[in-house]
Amino acid sequence: MSRPAVRLAPSILAADLCDLAGALAACEKGGADLVHVDVMDGHFVPNLSFGAPVVSALGRRTRVPLDVHLMVCEAALDLDAILETGAAWLTVHWEAVRHLDRVLARIRAGGARAGVALNPATPVSVLEAILPTLDHVLLMSVNPGFGGQSFIPYVLEKARCLRTLIDTHGLAVSIEIDGGIGPGTIESAVAAGADTFVAGSAVFGEPDPPAVMQTLRSLAESSRVTSS
Ligand code: DX5
Ligand code: ZN
Repeated sequence: MSRPAVRLAPSILAADLCDLAGALAACEKGGADLVHVDVMDGHFVPNLSFGAPVVSALGRRTRVPLDVHLMVCEAALDLDAILETGAAWLTVHWEAVRHLDRVLARIRAGGARAGVALNPATPVSVLEAILPTLDHVLLMSVNPGFGGQSFIPYVLEKARCLRTLIDTHGLAVSIEIDGGIGPGTIESAVAAGADTFVAGSAVFGEPDPPAVMQTLRSLAESSRVTSS
């Protein structure tokens, strides 16, 4: 099966948080397909970041679709507020949501693409039953909560396993990979079957974020050709 197109989703968690408008402008200039927004609740992960009002404000400032990664326990998840932000992609964690099928159905009914994130230690087999209903799976390649951590290599085997499952069943589910993605890791992630790449510190930790976005895209595009 031919490989899906590459999508780049810079994570604004690593941007200058006093200048989110500048970060959005950099994403537009760099040709980002999505802007990745990490919503953290201080419970599921030991960190707090953005909430629904910030996501709404970001959405009003950019034409790039928002990819919202909800690192939030089900009890603290105000899905109505998140859906009202108009985010295009919404991802909940398998480890954080007890009634996953119900939550995903609400996301789809709200008009967003619905996806599930897996922590590094969670096997992809937990998604086998629900996979045909998903738009994307987000594989965490670091432990969620913080930017700037090192890529965990064993997640590549999970990506290969997931790509095989998706292709075997003829599904159109995207594989997003998040954590430690940069020029040194993106090619192996492409080769393992990922198609959507979140990159925070590799992009916003550099002086010219749009240039890094272009570099990452061309690395991913060329390894996509060689791995097909
Ligand atoms: C971590 C977040 C990531 C983070 C990635 O919990 O989900 O999206 O921003 O940052 P880097 O690319 O620096 O690992
Ligand atoms: Zn994320």
